[in-house]
Order: sequence, then structure tokens, then C-alpha cells
Amino acid sequence: MLRYRLGRESDPFYWLYNSPGWLTDYDPPRQFPFWLNIELTNRCQLDCFFCSRQTSRRPLGDMSLETARLIVTEASRYPECGLRLTGWGEPLLHPQAGEIITMIKKAGLPLKIYTNGLALTPELMDTMIEYEVDDLQFSMQGLTPEQYEFNRRKSDYGRLRANIEMASRRRGERPRPFLSILTSVLADEAAKADPEAFIDEYLTLVDKVAVDLTNLNFVSEVDRVKPFLDKQSAGLSRGLCVDVFLALEVKYDGLIQFCGQDADGLEEHSLGYVGAISLHEAWHSRKMNEQRDRVGRALGHETMSVCRNCYHNTNKYDIFKTRA
Ligand SMILES: C[S@@+](CC[C@H](N)C(=O)[O-])C[C@H]1O[C@@H](n2cnc3c(N)ncnc32)[C@H](O)[C@@H]1O
Ligand code: SF4
Repeated sequence: MLRYRLGRESDPFYWLYNSPGWLTDYDPPRQFPFWLNIELTNRCQLDCFFCSRQTSRRPLGDMSLETARLIVTEASRYPECGLRLTGWGEPLLHPQAGEIITMIKKAGLPLKIYTNGLALTPELMDTMIEYEVDDLQFSMQGLTPEQYEFNRRKSDYGRLRANIEMASRRRGERPRPFLSILTSVLADEAAKADPEAFIDEYLTLVDKVAVDLTNLNFVSEVDRVKPFLDKQSAGLSRGLCVDVFLALEVKYDGLIQFCGQDADGLEEHSLGYVGAISLHEAWHSRKMNEQRDRVGRALGHETMSVCRNCYHNTNKYDIFKTRA
């Protein structure tokens, strides 16, 4: 479920979603990934109920400026490559977040930032305005303050709302950063509140609001989650994976992986380290191509631990139609 304030054409990536080869042109795979998903840090100030971070055993750390520079330098050689700051942590907690954002935009790369919004300061917002970050996406869960605070533990709905208002006010009528909100819901949350009313409310502040489904499959072994598993939203009837043709993931320590859902940085999903191999080599490596055959051209999801629980590219049942 998705709506725009000024129509679909206003989306900073509209040109891509409507280009002739989008989601069809896989043989051979594109020269370089369209998206590089970059984990600036795996530190986070929240303890979200649904997040795979709570099961991750990796040490905490931040990406070095040198690793960021290597990624940006290589990516800027390829047209149509965009960076998404995301991963299993809060990107704006990186101590040099502003410097890295500036570096990416000075290199001319499209940039989308996923954030829980709590560490966004007026100064950081002004940097994003000055360097025209393409898309700043605030992540939420639930459709009401109560649902949000249930899911996003240690957060404060009032503080997030104030920061979204601050971002909207400072950006004003400029086109960039395009401001988005993505919330996701469990089935009973969608039944108890009105997704359309949520979208109406937030479209007064941002340019795009999407309501998706929360997936608890990755955290099904966590004790506090177990009682809620029957209320989860994302089903598991699978479709072919498109991400293996579109994106690569880089963890904060430079580990390149073919899927970002792996919060543990496991060897079976890994392709090497930035600096030791190029992103181009990783993208065209035998391991990456084998993964494309396994889940992009066939439904071999059960054979890979990260793909078994995936909710992207599934045929999700439409919980929004069952709203009371
Ligand atoms: C893991 S977060 C990292 C970036 C940042 N800390 C944030 O919260 O946006 C990236 C996105 O993944 C979403 N996400 C994480 N786990 C999810 C799940 N189990 N189901 C649905 N969305 C999930 C979050 O809501 C967020 O929009
Ligand atoms: S979803 Fe984002 S904000 Fe929440 S715990 Fe995970 S990384 Fe942190």
C-alpha cells in the first residue's frame, strides 16, 4: 500500500522503476548492481521487537572512512548505481555520517537513507538539503503511537514525529531530499487501525507513505516474539528473488554479501572484503552467479539459511482487505 503527495513521477527513482529492463533484463546480469546497500554501523539506540539485530552475534563497529571511500570511488565509475545507507544498525549514529553523506553526493551518486529518525539533527538535515540527498526514508512500525512504541522498543513516538516535522519544515518546497515514510504492520495492527488514515495524516509532512508487512520469521526463536508469531503478516509462498540481480550488501567491516538479510555476516552468504576484491568482481563471481541460479531463476530458497525466512518476493496475503 503506497501513496505519493505529488504522484508517482515525483519519486526520485521513478525513471529506474520505469526503464525497459527493470525486473526483466537478467541475462546477462547488469554490469554493476543498481543498489549498494551499505551498513555504516551495526550500532543502534533502539531494540526493535521484529529486528534481526537482536539475534546478531557480530561485534559492534563503524565503517572506516577508507572503506567508505573505496566503495564510493568504485561505484562512481558506473552509471545508474545508487547507494542505500541501511543494514543492521542506525546509519545516522555513525560519528562521521555527515562526512560520508557529503562524500557520496559529491561523487554524484544517487543516495537513499533509511533511518529510525531519532538522531536526525537540524545540522545533519541541512547537510542533506545542501547536498541534495535523493531520498530520506523514516522507518516506523504500526499505525498508531501505541503500536509504534510496542514495536520500536526504547523509542519515543513524540520525538520521531517532531524530527519528521523539523525535516519537512527545513526542506520546505525544495524537491530534495525527497521525504518518505515506510511503516510495516502485523495483521492485527492493520485490523485495529486504518492504514489510509495513517497515510493521509503523514502525507501532510512527507512526499511518499508506504505501509508494508512486518515479518517475524527471522526472529521466530526469540522468546519475546514467540507469542506473536500467529499474528505475523508476511506469508512464505515464494517468488523468484529479484535482489540477486539488483543489489549487493556491504557490512560495516567491508564484508561484501549477496543479501543483507543476514545479520550475522555468515560465510555462506559472503563474497569477500572491500579492498581485497572489487565490488565488480564480487558481482560477477561464481558464488554470486550460483546464488542467482539458486533463488533468482529457481525456487531453491530452502537450501540457504537467509533465503528460507525471506519475505521479499513472496506472495503476501492481503491483510489490508481484512480490516475490521
Ligand atoms: C534494519 S533497518 C536499518 C536502518 C534503520 N535503523 C531503520 O530502522 O530504518 C532497515 C529497514 O528494515 C525494516 N525491517 C527490519 N526488520 C524488519 C522486519 N522483520 N519486517 C519488516 N521490516 C523490517 C525496518 O523497519 C527499516 O525500515
Ligand atoms: S529496525 Fe532499525 S532502529 Fe530498529 S533495532 Fe533494527 S536497526 Fe535499530
